[in-house]
Amino acid sequence: MNLPALDAEQAAQLEQTRACIVDAIEAAGGAIPFDRYMELALYAPGAGYYVNGTHKFGAAGDFVTAPELSLLFGAALAHQVAEGLAQTGGQVLEFGAGSGALAADVLQRLAELDRLPAQYQILELSAELKARQTETLRRRIPALIERVVWLEQLPDPGWRGVILANEVLDAMPVSRFRKGSAGWEEQQVAWDGQAFRPLWTEPRTPRLVSSLEAIERRVGVLPPGYQSEVNLRLRPWLGAMAALLEQGLLLLIDYGYSEREYYHFERDQGTLICHFRHRAHDDPFVLPGLQDITASVDFSAVAEAGVENGLELAGYTTQAQFLLGCGLDGLLKSLQDEPEGERIDRLQAAKQLVLPSAMGERFKVMGFQRGVESPLRGFSLRDLRASL
Ligand SMILES: C[S@@+](CC[C@H](N)C(=O)[O-])C[C@H]1O[C@@H](n2cnc3c(N)ncnc32)[C@H](O)[C@@H]1O
Repeated sequence: MNLPALDAEQAAQLEQTRACIVDAIEAAGGAIPFDRYMELALYAPGAGYYVNGTHKFGAAGDFVTAPELSLLFGAALAHQVAEGLAQTGGQVLEFGAGSGALAADVLQRLAELDRLPAQYQILELSAELKARQTETLRRRIPALIERVVWLEQLPDPGWRGVILANEVLDAMPVSRFRKGSAGWEEQQVAWDGQAFRPLWTEPRTPRLVSSLEAIERRVGVLPPGYQSEVNLRLRPWLGAMAALLEQGLLLLIDYGYSEREYYHFERDQGTLICHFRHRAHDDPFVLPGLQDITASVDFSAVAEAGVENGLELAGYTTQAQFLLGCGLDGLLKSLQDEPEGERIDRLQAAKQLVLPSAMGERFKVMGFQRGVESPLRGFSLRDLRASL
């Protein structure tokens, strides 16, 4: 694999994260399930990719997310947030706020719409990212920063407002499975003294087999050798959202598919992908702590988990149609007033949000509601719920 060479700081970080995972493997008697490996590689305190000090977002990092690309993403999303807040009052809660760019863009636009919440709450797992978010918000929206509150845990039940999660579900640890000749197998991770190695065993994670059987009942029997992954943490996470949301919206934006597309027989190696310095590859074992590890989202599973937990599925559509429904075209017109050089750059960046060949079709938006009038504007142009 042709990955950029590591500097001394990166090499030290790699060693630290590796050591932490090796300890966990030894404590477990020689192997851990893949989802535990992914959890440690991304979130082990002090060592995981999202909680250590490495630079992740934007041109100098490993990948670019929509809020990093164009501030019109957050501005358009703010129109949907404003529609929700108009009905519910309450707060905004953002999960995994990255560099803080989305919070800045949403708050800026909500201020222009005169629809500011008393609090913009952020639930962030990483102390390093909290510091980065504070810096972004101080620089971008100094007059609004006192409304931003970092939560240490989920709010109590009875919460009202709009919950946002952009590219959060794809960063949740997944279980990897394979259809072996003698039945289902689950990937474990072992350490051979030099490197992490995948090891296929009988399934050990509770609920894995029953989830796979349920998938096969819906999509048909998967062929021998078929390998993919399943996110068993979605259901408890949506249960937690449903438990806290008394009235409001939950908006989930991510790349993913319906179950039938996800577990299509041709997608027989799953969707797991790693990012390091803008290079994408499929080996989660090479640079733990330095690379992002992510899997596409099965939106059918998200919809089912939300509805089972008592939320109403408000809509499912592509990012392009959602942003256009939220008034992206009007926001684009406002770029006319920018100086020419900046206008062209911003226009190019905003186009990436909606072009089918960029983020427009691969990224989807799913909305849940409780006690809110629909239809919501973001889902008014194209309804893909029947595809789930
Ligand atoms: C790919 S980044 C996206 C960051 C940001 N939302 C953006 O769009 O630029 C994924 C983020 O999700 C966060 N995350 C994953 N699981 C989470 C959870 N259960 N609670 C809060 N944050 C979570 C990670 O810590 C990370 O900051």
